[in-house]
Amino acid sequence: MTARPLVIAVDGPTASGKGTIAQALAAHFGLPHLDTGLLYRAVGRQVLLNGGNPDSPADAAAACAFPDALLADPELRSEASGGLASRVSVHAPVRAALFERQRAFACQPGGAVLDGRDIGTVIAPEATAKLFVIASVEARARRRFSEMQRHHEQRGGSAVTLAEIEADLAARDARDRSRAEAPLRAAEDAVVLDNSAMTKDESVAEAIRIVERAVRRG
Ligand code: DC
Repeated sequence: MTARPLVIAVDGPTASGKGTIAQALAAHFGLPHLDTGLLYRAVGRQVLLNGGNPDSPADAAAACAFPDALLADPELRSEASGGLASRVSVHAPVRAALFERQRAFACQPGGAVLDGRDIGTVIAPEATAKLFVIASVEARARRRFSEMQRHHEQRGGSAVTLAEIEADLAARDARDRSRAEAPLRAAEDAVVLDNSAMTKDESVAEAIRIVERAVRRG
């Protein structure tokens, strides 16, 4: 009998720490990792480069043919790109265009870790382990704020207030949860990891325990 490849789905809202957890799980279990949010960020950025409107399904669909080199653009990590990604991700043709690429990554023979919003529900419903990572909007805003402060200190840029970050996170949560296509929600068989009061190391250790339990259950 051949063992089933280990596929780990990590979903959750913006700035919940799911990316950090997914990376740590990939390193721990020796698996490749795909940050699916980056694909939506690239589409959002490409819409602007095309001079299009991110709220137009046709403009957003056309931007799905972005060049792979765009995925390495540091601008994709910005708050502005995150907001654009959230807007283009509501369009069904965009989700359909990005589906195959994510599905192929999830189905590679050696297993994989993917993080996003709909990995456990749509992209890899058969995943061995599904985590739904959450944290209070206050905790997420505080983390994002200190990250941005560090970033701005390095670049000497202008500051954003904590209240602005909280409002932006809440707006993105609402859009990601309420959209008709593959809304952000925990799969029925996902384990919820609330890391509001955890350090990064504690939340990674808990995520590893959750995956190990799921592997034992088979
Ligand atoms: O994880 P992130 O912040 O990079 O995601 C940016 C946006 O992309 C998010 O607000 C919604 C969208 N997204 C999605 O709809 N489905 C995914 N699997 C990943 C991201």
